[in-house]
Amino acid sequence: MKKIIAIALILSGFAGWLQAQTTIYVDAGQGKHTINKNIYGHFAEHLGRCIYGGFYVGEDNQKIPNTEGVRNDVVKALKELKVPVLRWPGGCFADTYHWKDGIGPKAERPSMLNIWWGNVKEDNSFGTNEFLNMCELLETEPYLSANVGSGTPQELADWIKYTNHPAGSSPMPDLREKYGRKEPWKVKYWGIGNEAWGCGGNMTPEYYSNIYRQFATFTTDWQNSDGIVRIASGASSSDYNWTEVLMKNIKHNMLEAIALHHYAVIDWGNKGSAKDFTEDQYFTIMQRALEMEELIQKHVAIMDKYDPQKKVDLYVDEWGGWYDSEPGTNGAFLYQQNTMRDAMLAGATLNIFNNHADRVKMANIAQAVNVLQAVILTEGEKMILTPTYHVMKMYNVHQDATLLPSEIHNALLYNHGKESLPAISCSASKTTAGDINISIVNIDAQKTNTVTVNLKGAKVGTVKGSVLKSGKIQDHNSFEKPDLIKPAAYNDFKVEGGNIKVTLPPFSVVVLNVK
Ligand code: AHR
Repeated sequence: MKKIIAIALILSGFAGWLQAQTTIYVDAGQGKHTINKNIYGHFAEHLGRCIYGGFYVGEDNQKIPNTEGVRNDVVKALKELKVPVLRWPGGCFADTYHWKDGIGPKAERPSMLNIWWGNVKEDNSFGTNEFLNMCELLETEPYLSANVGSGTPQELADWIKYTNHPAGSSPMPDLREKYGRKEPWKVKYWGIGNEAWGCGGNMTPEYYSNIYRQFATFTTDWQNSDGIVRIASGASSSDYNWTEVLMKNIKHNMLEAIALHHYAVIDWGNKGSAKDFTEDQYFTIMQRALEMEELIQKHVAIMDKYDPQKKVDLYVDEWGGWYDSEPGTNGAFLYQQNTMRDAMLAGATLNIFNNHADRVKMANIAQAVNVLQAVILTEGEKMILTPTYHVMKMYNVHQDATLLPSEIHNALLYNHGKESLPAISCSASKTTAGDINISIVNIDAQKTNTVTVNLKGAKVGTVKGSVLKSGKIQDHNSFEKPDLIKPAAYNDFKVEGGNIKVTLPPFSVVVLNVK
């Protein structure tokens, strides 16, 4: 009898062991699509302290080191991050912005009220020249979001001539030359309005489709010979009808990309604190964040119906976590702290974008500095990097690499109360030098999880890794403790028979580099 019990125990242990073998299969020989580096893009709006105080502190600022008014510390950090593209000037602000107010001698620029974000005075001291010169400093591609809601096609056409046409060709490039810039900047990305269904004009998709066609006609010339990328204001989260109508009503030879906005929010009426939250609230945010997979699948299915050759790209040009503003700050400025929860949100979302590299060609986290899920926070002369910054930096190895298909077998669950979510998310890519990088996120707030990575079609030579983890999901960097959370070398893996067995701490992000 004792013998039978012993055998049964061994067998049940073995069954448990078998069940626990969660394996990520990466097919190293099957890479077809490039992960467009623009998936790692950012967004900077005239909102709160994103531009003023965040990026720009003024040319005369003696306290904060700057180049033509742009903070040197922020430029250095963003260059290290390899920001590929930066969207500006909004957001909702864009549809109230008249770009001609922001050029020429600063003393002569008119002021306006920023009606969307706290009715504060916008003195237009940071305008087109300042933004485009800053992009050169950052070595990033500019993405200009044009005013469709309260602007005119003429304004848009003039803006393109001002930024892109050669000097001497018409009055706008001459104006640019007069204001100190001879060579055009050659801006490629142009948003034709923002959230046209809401702050951009409260339009129906049918009405916006017509307006889009009108504005897009005057982006440059009928043939778009300038190679401009025109981006239609796309759906909010699961508004599939919006995508359907736009894809149906806009001729595809005048549409290069369609945008999607999705924020992870607990409840718009009660968003909860950015740093003092419960595991329940963490779980809900991760549910909202992981919805991105379904949203992309469904929007892409509609796009595929009208554009099976995938000529029109999908840009997720606003995404991130949205919580209550920090107590004691102006609520309209959307300033929030950034914790390990945001690191999980960023890691899992970027894996989703990577895995949809065939159609998702750009994404812009909202927003770069001091607003919503920021990668950088500033306070006067001080600057800190958030956990989201560190995730984006760890992941920048995927920029312009070839996506490798990956599949998780025996997926682990993150169980919370009666609900559960997939605990592990991953994506993998191969660089031109032949390195394979695998990013893995364990979103489970409680459990260490072990997974085996099986690389099909590649030899596992040297493996190196980095990890972002912390003691509490609410942990964050602060101006007092700026380096509480930062990536560390990761050694908790074993190479066994050509597989890599990795042990993932609770709520951690790991990036493996295999040579
Ligand atoms: O990112 C903040 C705001 O969110 C943007 O201005 C708007 O486009 C969206 O609703």
